[in-house]
Amino acid sequence: KPSGLSFKLVLLGDGRVGKTSLVLRYVTNSFSEKQEATAQASYLTKRLVIEGVPITLAIWDTAGQERFHALGPIYYRDADAALLVYDITDDDTFIRVKNWVKELQQMAPKNIIMAIAANKSDLVRSKKFDVQEADSYAASIGAKLFVTSAKLGSGIDEVFLDVATRVLQK
Ligand code: GTP
Repeated sequence: KPSGLSFKLVLLGDGRVGKTSLVLRYVTNSFSEKQEATAQASYLTKRLVIEGVPITLAIWDTAGQERFHALGPIYYRDADAALLVYDITDDDTFIRVKNWVKELQQMAPKNIIMAIAANKSDLVRSKKFDVQEADSYAASIGAKLFVTSAKLGSGIDEVFLDVATRVLQK
């Protein structure tokens, strides 16, 4: 068992928004255009040091697709943080983030740290795409919004570091 602190982070978001891709980019620095749908929850770990404190981050990934969706209490149990993911090119997936937040509020520990990833930013041409609504929604739930691309690897270290830092400071 790794020494030091261990944090549990759960990913939530609709099918195909890029949850698995974000984890794989973060943990193994890889990306596949043909990433297959996740059918079962599993986790990967990443070790990091924040303010001199060694931390093991267990990153739980699960199926977003409805046909697989049956998240038991085990997924949420003792979760320190949640990363809510949507696809920046698909507004429906942003609307669904609000449902995932409701589920979190029912199932997860009360003081869970949250962040939102607006993923697939590489598919949006304009550098000024509108994340204002998502930004203010994030603020309203005490979360922070990060614009990410698992394909390009942008915004990813930042979002995981932000949530881990906030868990550490809690
Ligand atoms: P479920 O397992 O169904 O919940 O999906 P998921 O949210 O884990 O998404 P996944 O990582 O499987 O990615 C779905 C598809 O989107 C794959 O074809 C990925 O290659 C693609 N994808 C993921 N992230 C990005 C990204 O940042 N940019 C682009 N262009 N494609 C991405």
